[in-house]
Amino acid sequence: MKKYIIKKGDKYWPSNEIKKIAWIKDNKIYKQADKNPVKFWDKLAKEGLIWEKSWKKTYIEKLPYFWWFKGGKLNFCINALDRHLKDKGDKTALIWVPEPTSEKTVKLTYNELSKKVNKFANVLEKLGVKKGDVVAIYLPMIPEVLIAILACTRIGAIHSVVFSAFSADALKTRLQDGKAKILISADGYYRRGEKEYLDKKVNKAIIGTKVRKVIIVNRLSKNKKYSRKFISFEKEIEKADSYYKPRMMNSEDPLFILYTSGTTGKPKGVVHDIGGYATYAYWTTKWNFNLHNDDVMWCTADVGWITGHTYAFYGPLLNGGTTVIYEGTPDYPNYNRWWNIIDKNKITVFYTAPTAIRMFMKAGEKFLKKHKLNTLRIIGTVGEPIDKDTWEWYFKKVGKSRCPIIDTWWQTETGGSLINSLPGVGPFIPTISGYSFPGTKHIVVNEKGKKVKDGKIGSLVQLSPFAPGMLHGIYKNPKKYKDTYFKRFRNKYDTSDGAYIKNKLIRITGRTDDVIKVAGHRLSTAELENAINKYSNINESAVVSIPDKIKGEVPVSFVVLKSGNSTLSLEKQLKKHIDKTIGPIARPSKIYFVKELPKTRSGKIMRRILKNILNKEKPEGLMTLVNPDSVKEIEKII
Ligand code: PRX
Repeated sequence: MKKYIIKKGDKYWPSNEIKKIAWIKDNKIYKQADKNPVKFWDKLAKEGLIWEKSWKKTYIEKLPYFWWFKGGKLNFCINALDRHLKDKGDKTALIWVPEPTSEKTVKLTYNELSKKVNKFANVLEKLGVKKGDVVAIYLPMIPEVLIAILACTRIGAIHSVVFSAFSADALKTRLQDGKAKILISADGYYRRGEKEYLDKKVNKAIIGTKVRKVIIVNRLSKNKKYSRKFISFEKEIEKADSYYKPRMMNSEDPLFILYTSGTTGKPKGVVHDIGGYATYAYWTTKWNFNLHNDDVMWCTADVGWITGHTYAFYGPLLNGGTTVIYEGTPDYPNYNRWWNIIDKNKITVFYTAPTAIRMFMKAGEKFLKKHKLNTLRIIGTVGEPIDKDTWEWYFKKVGKSRCPIIDTWWQTETGGSLINSLPGVGPFIPTISGYSFPGTKHIVVNEKGKKVKDGKIGSLVQLSPFAPGMLHGIYKNPKKYKDTYFKRFRNKYDTSDGAYIKNKLIRITGRTDDVIKVAGHRLSTAELENAINKYSNINESAVVSIPDKIKGEVPVSFVVLKSGNSTLSLEKQLKKHIDKTIGPIARPSKIYFVKELPKTRSGKIMRRILKNILNKEKPEGLMTLVNPDSVKEIEKII
């Protein structure tokens, strides 16, 4: 078995074996890119993608907006599919592993996938979908979700994928914001051996929206009867023509919207453009995972999140690679499942979240011992900080002390990874993400926006020219876009993450705002509070997070009732209410019923004090409270 890394002190470095096959073998690339990042990206955009028409000016900046490759024309689907058909038509593009072990793995070649995408583009056009329309997609991890998103890109429609575990209410909000007329969904899917129905949630969600047709995939039960608003994915695709001429689009036209949580109660529709995003997805996939023609990549993220968009689907396909997706949970029918999938499908690049690794750590090494895992070459992590113990376990038990861990730091807003070590360059150090990706620049600043000294913690910001994968606004909300990312630190993109930099290596310390990461999923405490406050007899509430051994952090809520006393059943009902309004991932691990919340004179709830109490720390800032007695009351019940 090839040795890909060597240990020197407390760092790991790429061995000669990996350097031999690495696209990037040394750190010269950083200096080259730094000299002129715009020229660097200009060359990469031309080299990585097929363009119908080139651009005159590579980068235009008029903050808070900036444009890459403006004037350039291309179609995303040509880049993800058509250009591979000549040489790689029979190569497997997608491997789909259904959850039930009684069902067979499905493989689709580039030719097969392309045929389905063309047909489905015709289905959408027949339903009146045009360039620039928003199409909503509420599908689980099944091949149809890839067919649907690619068909949108072929037409030039903007897809808006909603995580299938989200509630009907969460889907409705997103349908209303995007004013989608078409929704693509499924009757349901399998999860932990059970049937999860989506159609019931769809029926509820579309009331009061502009949705005129729902295209429904038949995953669970044959011949289910639906209202006339519903049409069958399978029947429509069967009838459709097998070629759809791809529409030429402007580089700066939107490719998709993806909603994410911020500091307010309302999710933001992050918009990504075609040319910049495609360029960034292509190169970060190729270099971060050292993707070659014979690689098989498995990114375990759901398509409902940005990681699923970029590294489960778009990045691998733009590179003509083979990507694996799995419908179900890691522990079904037991903790052997993921390792089985790796061995059976000869996966070489494996990319997952620290939460999943911690779950396997807890389950025990015995599940890994039965598996070879000898095809793995590179392993990656994303979504939350990875602690040293988890890093080392992942490195030794999964990567067999052979595969470098690529710890990628990025966000829904950034489209692709911005900070990580490259496989052929290194170094690989537990808890350190690495350098800024070539052609991008980050610094750490204090509250005044001034750069801090090496090693000092502060706010992580990105400097101009901003990376090509960066968002192009919040859907129909320019003010929110400006205020969120470009207000606090002039001319710098505010990541809302804390970090420190030492010798250009970046360590992320976590969010500095009210966003929490539960099992790597991004949630806003305000969104949770809004949902709780809507329940009957709730006066007000405050949500904070506490550390959790598996999920990283989990929400805890403090609730003040309008009248009467709390009961155990009320706690249960409230948890159910959260499941219904947001989704089970947002369910608080504990609800405390209190008489009063600690508040400042201006009425601001002091969440930090609640956090102090939960962590058994001395509460900070008691002097500013108008009701200091509330703290004693709360301390008594915890
Ligand atoms: O706090 C950072 C954390 O996840 C946030 C972004 O969340 P989301 O938009 O859902 O995208 C997640 C997947 C790209 C960041 O602001 N985060 C992401 N990756 C890392 C991380 N924190 C530490 N280390 C990482 N590798």
